[in-house]
Amino acid sequence: MDLVLVAGSSHAVLATEVARRLGTEAQAGLACPFPDGELHVSLTPVRGADVYLLQSTGPPIHDHLAELLLLADAARRSGAARLTAVVTYLAYARQDRRAQDGDPISARVVADIIGRSVDRVVAIDLHTTAVEAFFPCPVEHLSAIGVLLERVRPLVTDHVVVAPDLGAVKRAERFARALGLPTAYVRKRRLSGREVEVLGVEGDVRDRAALIVDDMISTGATIVAAVEALRGAGARAMIVAATHGLFVSPAARTIGGLGLDALFVTDSVPPPTDPPPHTRVSIAAVLSEAIDRLHRELPLAELVRRA
Ligand code: R5P
Repeated sequence: MDLVLVAGSSHAVLATEVARRLGTEAQAGLACPFPDGELHVSLTPVRGADVYLLQSTGPPIHDHLAELLLLADAARRSGAARLTAVVTYLAYARQDRRAQDGDPISARVVADIIGRSVDRVVAIDLHTTAVEAFFPCPVEHLSAIGVLLERVRPLVTDHVVVAPDLGAVKRAERFARALGLPTAYVRKRRLSGREVEVLGVEGDVRDRAALIVDDMISTGATIVAAVEALRGAGARAMIVAATHGLFVSPAARTIGGLGLDALFVTDSVPPPTDPPPHTRVSIAAVLSEAIDRLHRELPLAELVRRA
C-alpha cells in the first residue's frame, strides 16, 4: 500500500517538511472558495493508498475544520484504503466539559465529526488526554514535550517548573521529572475568553528562575498573569514553553512586553503575521516518524503521550 500525504491549506510548510522527511511529496488538497464562501477541495485520486491528511484546525478554525472534513470525504470517495487525519492542533479541545447548564460539550462535537470521517486520528498535545475518548475512532496522541525539552534543557539551572493553572500540572511534572527540577503552580480562574485572575502561587518560587509550561498560548492572558504573579512572589528569570502558539490578539503586545528570557512554541500552527518574539521548535520529526511507523504498522512507543 502506498503512503500518500495530503496537505490541507492550513499548514503547507509543515506538511512539506514532513513529506521531505518521509521521502515523498505532499499532495495539496486544493481549497478554493466559491463566491458565497463555500470551500471546494479536490484531490488526485488516492485509490488503494494509506492516506494521511495533515491539517491544523487553528484560525480560521471553521474553514480549516470544514476543509479537513471535505478532504477526508474526497479521499474516501476516491478509494483510500486507510485514512488518517493528522490534526496538529485541535480547536475546541478546551471546551471539554459543560461550565453551566445550557452549554454544549464542544470538544466532543468536533472530535465526533472528525472521528466519523476517518479511520484514525493522530493528534499532538490535546488539551487533556480525556479528549481522546470523544473520538469515535482510534487516536494516536503524540507529545511535543520531548522536542521542547531538548531546547529548554541547556537553558535551565535552578529553575522551578511552573504550571500556569491546575490543568497544566501533569505537563509541568513531566518537564520537572525530565529536568530534575521542582514544580509549582499558579491558581488561576478564568473570567472570560480574554481575562484570567490569579488566586495565588503554590510552591517555592522565591529567588528562583521559572520555566512556565502549558499546552497552548491563545490570547496570552494565562502566561501574562502567571509571569506577573510569579514575579510578585519573588521569582526571577522566566522561560515559557508551550506546544501550540496561536498568539491571538493581544498576545503579541502583552507577551512581547513581558521581557521573557525565552519563549518556545512548536510549529503545530503557522505563526500569525505579527507574533511576539519567540523560537519555533519543529514537530516535523515527531510527525514523520509517527506516520512512518503507522504506515509500517510498527509501535509508536515513546512518541505517544502518557497522561
Ligand atoms: C487553559 O486551560 C489552557 O491550558 C491555556 O492555559 C489557555 O487556554 C491559554 O489561553 P490564553 O492564552 O488565552 O490565556
